[in-house]
Amino acid sequence: MTAWKEKRRILLGVSGGISAYKVPDFVRALRHGGNEVDCILTEAAERFVSPMVLATLSERRVWLERDFLSDDGGPQIPHIRLAERAEACGVVPCTADTLRKIAQGEAGTLLGATLLALRAPVVLFPAMNVHMWDHPATQASVTRCRELGYRVIEPEEGYLACGYEGRGRLPSKEVILEELWRALSPKCDLEGVRVLVTAGPTLEFLDPVRFLSNPSSGKMGYAMARTAWYRGAEVCLVTGPVPLDPPPGVECVRVTSALEMHDAVLRKLEWATVIVKAAAVGDYRAAQQETRKIKRESRERLCLDLEQNPDIAAAVGSRKRADQFLLGFAAETDDLIAHAQSKMRRKGLDMIVANPVSGQRNAFGAEDNSVVVIDKSGVVAEFSGNKESVADSLWDEVGKRLRGKGA
Ligand code: C5P
Repeated sequence: MTAWKEKRRILLGVSGGISAYKVPDFVRALRHGGNEVDCILTEAAERFVSPMVLATLSERRVWLERDFLSDDGGPQIPHIRLAERAEACGVVPCTADTLRKIAQGEAGTLLGATLLALRAPVVLFPAMNVHMWDHPATQASVTRCRELGYRVIEPEEGYLACGYEGRGRLPSKEVILEELWRALSPKCDLEGVRVLVTAGPTLEFLDPVRFLSNPSSGKMGYAMARTAWYRGAEVCLVTGPVPLDPPPGVECVRVTSALEMHDAVLRKLEWATVIVKAAAVGDYRAAQQETRKIKRESRERLCLDLEQNPDIAAAVGSRKRADQFLLGFAAETDDLIAHAQSKMRRKGLDMIVANPVSGQRNAFGAEDNSVVVIDKSGVVAEFSGNKESVADSLWDEVGKRLRGKGA
């Protein structure tokens, strides 16, 4: 677990929609790492989720509407105390009625008053019937809430508990947790920065059923994308095929081959401020891709005729503008620093992250990584730990240099 995701204080406002039944699961997930979760239930929410379940899972008192302005909260009234404690707040689910009240700054309920007293970031997760969501009155509340500085997450499309199909579903647990982590991120220094990340392996098909590839898991690239998004960047992730979910607020372009990745990156290049080349791009592809399956019986020996793929990093390095920053990765089995340095020069990178991929320190597929950061002045830092915390440290290094460029 990344250090800043531990021992945080999170407030959940729960309003009375059917998807409130999912909230105990969110509380459980948030508790990992010693995080404290306070829950405030509206009067209607009590009909959809049991306060006792939430109190048991959070190991804290659950706050109900009848606690508002009651005198058993000690010397400070509950809404002020709850607002002061919270480092981030999610309203989940946020019903049409609660959304309207928040938009109007309503202070006559415990949840409403707490939200007004709160200085921490708040994320609203509306969930309701599709027609209620589409109604101009609800949309006006969404607009107003955004003007007031709340982050409002669009509900998802799908089957709704009310029997309709359409937009209105509460997003998945992963999306809700990621949005809350983003709200809790201690750094938001990448606001206004546009980050293009490549991640994962490429697949170079020989025939319709066989390909050449490599063991890249995509975890390092996804961690770079995720941490940049936490820190406020706009992120586009160009990814080879890996079984990972991209962070929710990130534009995701899925590709298979190196040529597709090359085209996707060049299409997006103009847009990007920082380009992170974390993908393990296949260096070769079949000179002639067979349209039918190669039959074992037809060939005693199979010699592959391969041709080189374009070097995407080098293509970016030769085209990039003075205000763009290009970060490469070098997975090396030997002579780590020397090989990484020569790659950085050859490909026109601003900085390179060298990581060993042999023996015990093999980072391919692992949760942890141990890297050496090199720029034109030589080795500048070494980091090790889980890939997310390494990614965070790498963004510190990139951030310093972006500020140097006046970004
Ligand atoms: O494969 P190699 O070790 O040369 O990779 C170094 C850097 O170049 C990495 O950042 C990788 O993503 C990038 N690269 C690329 N296109 C290639 C090969 C590598 O962008 N065809």
